[in-house]
Amino acid sequence: MMGRHKVFCGERLSDLVQVAGAAGPPAELIFGDWYPALRTEGLVAGKTAKALLLGIPVLVGRKNDGTIFALRDLCPHRGIPLSAGWFDGEAVMCKYHGWRFEPCSGQCVEIPSLTSHETLDPTKIYANAFPCEERDGHAWVYVPPPGAGRVVAGSTELPLVPELPKFSTKFRSAYLTADLPCNVDHGIIGLMDPAHGPFVHQAWWWRSRASIHEKTKHFEPIPEGFRMASHAPSANSAPYKLLGVYGEPITTTIDFVLPNRRYETIRAGEKWFTSLTTVTPVTPSTCRIDVVAAWNVFYRVPFVTSIAKFFGARFVRQDQETMIEQAEGLRFNPGLMLIDDADKPAKWYFALKQARLKGTGEHPLSGPVTLHWRS
Ligand code: FES
Ligand SMILES: [Fe+2]
Repeated sequence: MMGRHKVFCGERLSDLVQVAGAAGPPAELIFGDWYPALRTEGLVAGKTAKALLLGIPVLVGRKNDGTIFALRDLCPHRGIPLSAGWFDGEAVMCKYHGWRFEPCSGQCVEIPSLTSHETLDPTKIYANAFPCEERDGHAWVYVPPPGAGRVVAGSTELPLVPELPKFSTKFRSAYLTADLPCNVDHGIIGLMDPAHGPFVHQAWWWRSRASIHEKTKHFEPIPEGFRMASHAPSANSAPYKLLGVYGEPITTTIDFVLPNRRYETIRAGEKWFTSLTTVTPVTPSTCRIDVVAAWNVFYRVPFVTSIAKFFGARFVRQDQETMIEQAEGLRFNPGLMLIDDADKPAKWYFALKQARLKGTGEHPLSGPVTLHWRS
């Protein structure tokens, strides 16, 4: 993380639904990658918190030296959640028989029942520790494929930990999170769906149905994803109007990268705004959307955080409400359609995902592609 990083606001939009009860059909999950488990603001030294990632219970905590860790929340002895036990800032102790584990490596450091008559070496036993890194106020956890051996933190074979791009040392930031009662695929294609904007996000201050017009967007392939190339932003969107006061040409880049990441970068001269939106499988049939954003626009104007929060929260809430309604329908397992060109990015997502799962590396875009739709 670079520079002075302050989290000014955050909101959890989980009050609307009991997601697990309303969940529809499951999705195939991509293991072997990094996912944000939870926010780390409240995770002071000696504290732990529970998360569910790809259906796996995870215990995240912070040691006295400041490092954070993630353990599968199941004791390797007899399976009781380690979160039922104790953490003293150094070791996690299981509630059932008091085995103690160093939580970054998962190594067992003590089995209280052992006597000098026994030869069992506790340090040969490991709880399941996952690589865990802090970025942009999130604890990112590497979730290995089921059955994979012990993954050593910091291993060079691991993919890079995702991070929000920043273009200056001073910036402000904000985050939002919302639980969605649908599987990760619906969460992700909802994220890249241009045609819902005028309907789901219509508002007097944003845009209305009457403003629907034809758009031409240029895409290009990037590793495990695609980029909507820099373009003049649409004149009818409010954040761009806010940026526009600087009178500089504005460029926008939107990247989608597997397994679940949408990076948006807006730059106008020295000013910039970036966001990283992820849709993380909580279980095979539910997911959570997290948005982190940073900017140096209006750095000196204190109420910019409230403005950003207002736009972001309202936007994400509208998506959340819509997906809750969609989940009601999906429980009946209806057939679904993806149409050209508005759903083309969704088709690319499914193709990229299949390539990753099958290990073929095939990319659905062989070169630049231009798409047209009305939104
Ligand atoms: S179940 Fe954890 S120590 Fe026995
Ligand atoms: Fe949306």
